[in-house]
Amino acid sequence: MKKKVAILGSTGSIGKSTLEIIKKYKSYFKVELLSGSTNYNLLVNQSKIFKPKYIYTNNKLLSNKLIKFTSKNKIKLINDIDEIKKNKFDISISAISGVEGLIPTYKIIKFTKNLGIANKESIICGWPFLKKEMKKFGCSFFPLDSEHFSIYKLLEKKNISTISKVFLTASGGPFFNKKINLSKVTPKQAVKHPKWKMGKKISVDSANLFNKILEIIEASLIFDLPINKFSFVIHPESKVHAIVNFRNNFSSMIYHDTDMKIPIMNFLFMNNKKIITSNDNFLSTNKMQLNFYKFDVRMSVYRIFNFLNKLNFVGYIVLNCANEFLVSKFLNNEILFEHILKNLCVFFDRKDIQRYVKNTKITSIYDINDIIKFTHSKLV
Ligand SMILES: NC(=O)c1ccc[n+]([C@@H]2O[C@H](COP(=O)([O-])OP(=O)(O)OC[C@H]3O[C@@H](n4cnc5c(N)ncnc54)[C@H](OP(=O)(O)O)[C@@H]3O)[C@@H](O)[C@H]2O)c1
Repeated sequence: MKKKVAILGSTGSIGKSTLEIIKKYKSYFKVELLSGSTNYNLLVNQSKIFKPKYIYTNNKLLSNKLIKFTSKNKIKLINDIDEIKKNKFDISISAISGVEGLIPTYKIIKFTKNLGIANKESIICGWPFLKKEMKKFGCSFFPLDSEHFSIYKLLEKKNISTISKVFLTASGGPFFNKKINLSKVTPKQAVKHPKWKMGKKISVDSANLFNKILEIIEASLIFDLPINKFSFVIHPESKVHAIVNFRNNFSSMIYHDTDMKIPIMNFLFMNNKKIITSNDNFLSTNKMQLNFYKFDVRMSVYRIFNFLNKLNFVGYIVLNCANEFLVSKFLNNEILFEHILKNLCVFFDRKDIQRYVKNTKITSIYDINDIIKFTHSKLV
C-alpha cells in the first residue's frame, strides 16, 4: 500500500527535495497535501504532477489565485489545517520556514501517524505543546535537520546517561576563513552557502553561525539534554553532521553526503525493507579528508552561546523571533549583516527584556503570538 504523504512547505528547498525522492519512488508514496505561500507557478506544477487531495495555504493572495485551478482539478483548497477533517496521513513533513510553520505543524499532528520536522523554529517555539499533542494522538516524531537526524540515529537504543558531550558540526558558512568586511556583506553574498542549497532565512543564519544556536536549542529540547551538554565544531566539508562523546571514551559520528535528501529519504523509508543505495558513502568517495576546527571564542555568536543556558523556554521564543525579525530586515537591506548578532546581544542585555522573559508564563501554543508581537514591538 502506498504511504500517504503531506508536505507543509512543498515549494521550499526541503519540500522540493522531498518531492524529488517521491517522484523517483512513486510506487511507494501518494502525495495527499501540498502547500506554499507565494510561489503559485511551482505549487500548480507540483499539483499537476502529484495530484494531491488538498492544497494548503494561509496566504490570502495565493489562495485567491488558486481557486480556479483547484476547483477545475477537484483539489480541496484549505486555509486552515483543521479543514482536513477525516484524513490520516502516514507521513507528514514540516518544512515551512520560520515560526509561521508552528501552528500548521501543531494542527497536522492529529491527522498524521509520523511527523518529520525540518522547521526548527517550530520546535524551538513550541516543543512542549508539539510533544504533548503527538503523545495524545499517537504520532511518532522524527527530526529532519541533518544534525538532529544524526544525533537521533547515534542515540538509538542508548541510555542518555552514557553521553558526555554532543557536538553539532557547522560548515562555517560562506565567510569562514575569508577576509571579509562584515559591514559590507550583501544579502546576495550571505545566502550563497558553500555546501548546502537552502532557503534564504536559514542561509543567513548559517552565514553568521546563529543557525548553530538554534540547532543547540532544538537538540536540547528534542533529546531532553541540558544546553551545556552541547557544543559545535567547524567542519568545512560538512560530511560529518554530529559527534557524540560517550562516558566510556568512545565517540561516534555520522557521515553522509551534503544532501538533505539523505535524512529525508531515511525518514520516508523508515520501517521499509527496501534498501536505499547511493554511490556516495564514506568508502566510495575519494574526498575523505575531514577537518574539524574549534570555534573561535571571538566570534560574535559565542556571546549568545554563552548566555543560552541562562534562558528559559520564553527566552528561546524571544531569541528565535528577534532573530527572524532582524534577518528579514537584513534581507530587505534595512540593517547591516553584522547588526543581526550585535542587535540580538544588545536586546538581551536590556532589563525590560530580561524581566519579560523571566515573568512571562505560557500555557497554550496560541500564547506564542503575544510573545512574537511583544518581541517585534521592542525591536522597531
Ligand atoms: N533547506 C535545508 O537544507 C534545511 C536544512 C535543515 C533544516 N531546514 C529547515 O527547514 C525549514 C524550511 O527550510 P527551507 O530551506 O526549505 O526554506 P525555504 O526554501 O525558504 O522554503 C520555505 C517554505 O515555506 C513556505 N512558507 C514561507 N512562509 C510561509 C508562511 N508564512 N506560511 C506558509 N508557508 C510559508 C514557502 O512557500 P513559498 O515558497 O511558496 O513562498 C516554502 O514552501 C526551515 O525551518 C529551515 O530552518 C532546512
